Formats: sequence, structure tokens, C-alpha cells
Amino acid sequence: MLARSSLAGADRRFVTELVYGTTRMKRACDHLVDRYLIGSADDQVRAALRLGAYQLVFLATPPHAAVDATVGAVTGGGRKVVNAVLRRVADGPVAYPDDATRLSYPDWLVERLCEALGPDRAIAALEAMNQPAITSAREDGYVQDPASQSVVDAVGAGPGELVVDLCAAPGGKATGLAATGATVVAGDRRLSRARLVVDNIERLQLDRRADAGGSGRVLPMVADGRRPALVPGVADRVLVDAPCSGFGSLRRRPDARWRIEPEAPERLSILQSELVDAAIELVRPGGVVVYSVCTFGTVEGRAVVDRALEGHDVELLDPPGPPWQIIDGMATLLPDRSDGMVLARLRKPPST
Ligand SMILES: C[S@@+](CC[C@H](N)C(=O)[O-])C[C@H]1O[C@@H](n2cnc3c(N)ncnc32)[C@H](O)[C@@H]1O
Repeated sequence: MLARSSLAGADRRFVTELVYGTTRMKRACDHLVDRYLIGSADDQVRAALRLGAYQLVFLATPPHAAVDATVGAVTGGGRKVVNAVLRRVADGPVAYPDDATRLSYPDWLVERLCEALGPDRAIAALEAMNQPAITSAREDGYVQDPASQSVVDAVGAGPGELVVDLCAAPGGKATGLAATGATVVAGDRRLSRARLVVDNIERLQLDRRADAGGSGRVLPMVADGRRPALVPGVADRVLVDAPCSGFGSLRRRPDARWRIEPEAPERLSILQSELVDAAIELVRPGGVVVYSVCTFGTVEGRAVVDRALEGHDVELLDPPGPPWQIIDGMATLLPDRSDGMVLARLRKPPST
């Protein structure tokens, strides 16, 4: 709708903030509104009440502007309800029964993060992920979260090396790895996702840079990372930036907190282990496998690493230094200004 509208830049940003913010803070807004709502609200009235409450409480929009504009957007008999309830929200106290309502996450998600990080770090992380995302552009122009760049740095690739990125789309880390001078085979299971890697190679003019000796090449590939058509032992390094529940990147996807299923970690943990198994097979003796996910919790973190250590002849390398910290045996970046991530590096012993 935004693309088809004739709104100016500032208005577009305001609409985006309203839609993303209201989606994120839906639970908190519903709580503020429901204190004064008698009976049920249809979809239009509910959406207007959330939008109005979000402006009043989270954007500190002057009450007359927030209420009048929101009421003006409602058609039919709902206007009176929206007007009455929003006026009471504007005058009423802002109070919540618990952190999950205040921070607007499902209870199960708050509980899982508290288990994974401890309550203090979990609440700080949940608060941070309610702030708008920051982005920073790399030297080559690719817009990337700083946490992703920290994963690229932790891979430690260098000129002339062959790096396989088994879950590469859209290619942020793969193109970052190529910037070290390494050749990167960038696989993804879905063709539509692999096309995003191709688009990024073209947009960053990576082949031209590689011809000029300023970068390694990225070779896109559509392949299931559990069974890639690559010669075992061929890679100096393998990155498994695995599909995950995404508890560390909720800020970037405002609706994700309402969509992730509570069973996602258990379901994905099996796939994550299969990808790590394949990565260990691919790496040469002395080579390194890096496992990373943008989520928290033992099921997708330490448990995956422990299974790899039990099932293969690999050693766990020391974690990278700051900004990484160690939580539950995993190198961890907590979401603050950037996304949350966990990572582990496994090394195959050199051949004797
Ligand atoms: C966390 S994202 C990767 C982000 C990417 N490394 C980057 O930095 O831009 C995970 C990716 O894994 C892909 N994927 C899921 N299952 C896979 C599988 N079995 N084999 C390979 N890729 C898979 C998804 O399509 C998704 O693009």
C-alpha cells in the first residue's frame, strides 16, 4: 500500500513506524485499551484502538492529535467507542500486570528467554528488541546488522581459502566473507532465496571486484546443506548460519513474536545438527566449522554443539573475544543496538 501511495518521505516513515510499532506493542496496547472497553470490538475498532493507544503511550503524540486523527479514520458506529476509549487511555495511568504485557511478548517467549539468559539479561534483551532496528552499511555498501559482521569476523577467512556457506541467502555473510579474499560457495536450499544471493553479487559488482583482485568470488548454489554436492574435505572453513527460531532478531521482524511457534527450537535443533554434521564432513583436516544462530537457548545452542562433539572427531575452539561473551558455553552477542547471536567454532584435527 505504501508503494502505491503518494505519501512524502516523512509520512512514509511515520506510517512505517505506526504499523511496525503497533504490531510489536499489540499486547501492551490491548491491555491499556481493554481496561475501558465494554463489550467486544470488531476488527476495525480494535485496529484503531491499538493505533491510537500506540501513539498516545509510545510515541507521546499530543492527545488531541492522536485521538482526532484515529477517530477520523474509523467509519460507522465504531467512532464513538474509539473516541471514548482513547480519551480515557490518554487520561489514565500507564500500568501493566507483568513484564510480558508491558514489553508486549507472548508469555512463553519471555519464559524461554529468561531460562536461556537469566531474567535480568532476558528483560534487557526484550526491551532492546522493542527499539527500531539500527542498520549500518559496510564499505561495499551492503546494509548489514553489526552482529552479522561479527560472525563474519569470527569465521577468520583469508585470501585464497575456500569457504562454504551452507545456509547463505540472502548472502550478507557470504559477501562479507568474500571481502576477505576467500572464494565462497554460497548454498541455500530454496531457489528463490539463492536468487537473492545472485542479486547481491550483481548489486555489489563482486565479479568485477574479484577480477580486479579486490575480493574473492561468491559462487551461488541451490543445495540442501545436509547433502551438498561437494567433495568431502574440500573446504578450509564452513559456515552454518542455520535456520533458527530467531529470538535474537525479533526487532527486525515486528510480527515475528506473534508467529514463532513455541515448538520451533525443538523442531529446528534436528535440522541444525544435520547441517553441522554435513559441515564437518566438508571441512579439511585442520579446518574450522562455524555454527551460528540468531537465537538463544540450549536446544539450538549448546545441545547442537554437544552432539557434534560427541559424534565427530572435532574440538571446540576458544570463543572469539569481545564483543562476544560466554553464556551457556556459547559465544553470545546480546541484542542491544544490534541483533542477538550465538556461535561456536569446531576444528577438525590436522591429519597426522
Ligand atoms: C539465517 S538464514 C541465513 C542468512 C545468511 N547467512 C546471511 O547472512 O545473509 C538461514 C537460511 O537457511 C536456508 N535453509 C533452510 N534449510 C536449509 C537447508 N536444509 N539447506 C540449506 N539452506 C537451508 C533458508 O532458506 C535461509 O535462507
